[in-house]
Amino acid sequence: VAAEAGSLDRFAFDEIAHGVDTTHHVAPGHDARVLIRWGDPLFADAPAFDPHDQSADAQERQFGYNNDYVGFVPLEGRLDRGLLVVNHEYTNEELMFPGLPAPQAGDDFTGITDEMMEIEKAAHGLSIVEVVREQGRWGYVRDSRYNRRITPRSTEIALSGPVAGHARVRTDADPEGRRVIGTLNNCAGGTTPWGTILTCEENFHGYFLGDAAHHPEKDQLARYGVPGHAYDWGRTDPRFDIAREPNEPNRFGWVVEIDPKDPASTPVKRTALGRFKHEGAATLIAEDGRLVVYMGDDQRFDYVYKFVSRDLVDTADPAANRDLLDHGTLYVARFEADGTVSWLPLVQGQGPLTADNGFATQADVLIDARLAADALGATPMDRPEDIEANPVTGGVYVMLTNNHQREADRIDAANPRAENLFGHVLEIVTEGRHTATENRWDILVRCGDPAKGEVGAMWNPATSENGWFAAPDNCAVDARGRLWVTTDQGSGWPNTGTADGVWALETEGERRGTGKMFFRVPVGAEMCGPCFTPDDTALFVAVQHPAADGAEAFPGHAGRSSFENPATRWPDFAEGVPPRPSVVAITRQGGGTIG
Ligand code: FEO
Ligand code: CA
Ligand code: CA
Ligand code: CA
Repeated sequence: VAAEAGSLDRFAFDEIAHGVDTTHHVAPGHDARVLIRWGDPLFADAPAFDPHDQSADAQERQFGYNNDYVGFVPLEGRLDRGLLVVNHEYTNEELMFPGLPAPQAGDDFTGITDEMMEIEKAAHGLSIVEVVREQGRWGYVRDSRYNRRITPRSTEIALSGPVAGHARVRTDADPEGRRVIGTLNNCAGGTTPWGTILTCEENFHGYFLGDAAHHPEKDQLARYGVPGHAYDWGRTDPRFDIAREPNEPNRFGWVVEIDPKDPASTPVKRTALGRFKHEGAATLIAEDGRLVVYMGDDQRFDYVYKFVSRDLVDTADPAANRDLLDHGTLYVARFEADGTVSWLPLVQGQGPLTADNGFATQADVLIDARLAADALGATPMDRPEDIEANPVTGGVYVMLTNNHQREADRIDAANPRAENLFGHVLEIVTEGRHTATENRWDILVRCGDPAKGEVGAMWNPATSENGWFAAPDNCAVDARGRLWVTTDQGSGWPNTGTADGVWALETEGERRGTGKMFFRVPVGAEMCGPCFTPDDTALFVAVQHPAADGAEAFPGHAGRSSFENPATRWPDFAEGVPPRPSVVAITRQGGGTIG
């Protein structure tokens, strides 16, 4: 495999064109078929999807909304049978429920009933579902004994690591501070070498309401944007009202570990990995046998982190790694202008992380990880989204999606553009030294249209007019060490004239920095969850919130999208049926390697 690195054009497919329409597109020679949709029943007794007759109990037995991260865990060592683990990040009420007005700025919650809020909760969380390939086609297995829903409505989750039991995570419902109901805003994630899934709690602040002015931790809440008032759940559920349950926000913003092969297992919030708006968690076994987890905190001017375990990964006995993520060191990155990246440890008692500065225990450092990283002088980045490590090259790729708020006097070498509308991809050059406290870094591409000088893009000149992209978000490295990037332009897609999608991106040799367009989503969607089977014969992608973003700019569509008037009814295209976030399985016609 390593011999391929550096050869010209490791992507053999013919690329597709930029554009936007109501459906999805994939490179010639491939099939892209919908595998599972919002509302599809997961269990024998689950009701069929009926958007005009929804209930929370039905939704808890069906595939959830807004699929984001997708993980694949082979079953019985087979590559044609496995478990898909899928995050359901959030909900778009105006597209889910009939009769609601499209949202306007500053006009939240209009018309949302108590029952709708319970359906929203049931549509969040994760789905674990068995999938099989038969006659070349992937499908899901209804009522597999592995199928499971995890929701913020009903799933008990353990807190472990240094924060478990701390006074700042105790609540009326959980006076021990060790049991949380649910996981929220699960964005991207990762798969561990021992076959568990890491799912990441991102914009948890939006689920809380109330007034922070008299809250005992109001400064800490402010650094995390709590309360975010994006959902109204606190109206009926006291734990989402910070006046009634002041510690509940400290119980979200964690990386959660799930064993998908044990449907009765209790997921675990691994607090040693720190609390922030976690995008993803890329794991690898480092040069000395310990586990390293690379993580981004997706907010403008927030940070890149890595966790290094104390103990070695036991590759022979998966169960021996049960508590591996509870012990180790969390570091935050400072990117120097000379091309060095320094990893600064978040350890209580070291440097400024003292009791006098508000960090009395390691639990305080972890709960307030953003404030600890501020104190250490970490480099504020242009929204760190997904990170992936390439085991073939040692490169670690950091998706920096955009940051229109970066002012000219705040640019730095690692975030070199003012008003960065299109984002960039940064590479941490580890040369296989993943536990080091110093590495090198470089910028792989500056995104956006290279034909427009004012954009300030930087691509390999071999990139075609369709090969460039904007707003990198998720990414995957396939078994051949090739990088694939997916995008999330939000309502900014009219700035590029193309919908989001999947692009291949060369990282080595003469073609380093060349993009190539592979897949395109329907209007208003973002592209999430690129996940390859270990043999690279299937690529699972998650089409999130079709019709939602930028519908006003879509030719032929009037105004914002709503249930009654969406910009697309992908993938069913049936009158009265709203668009449905869905996972798509991509395969090569006749079999073989993707791309
Ligand atoms: Fe949920 Fe940062 O994307
Ligand atoms: Ca998203
Ligand atoms: Ca994302
Ligand atoms: Ca994004």
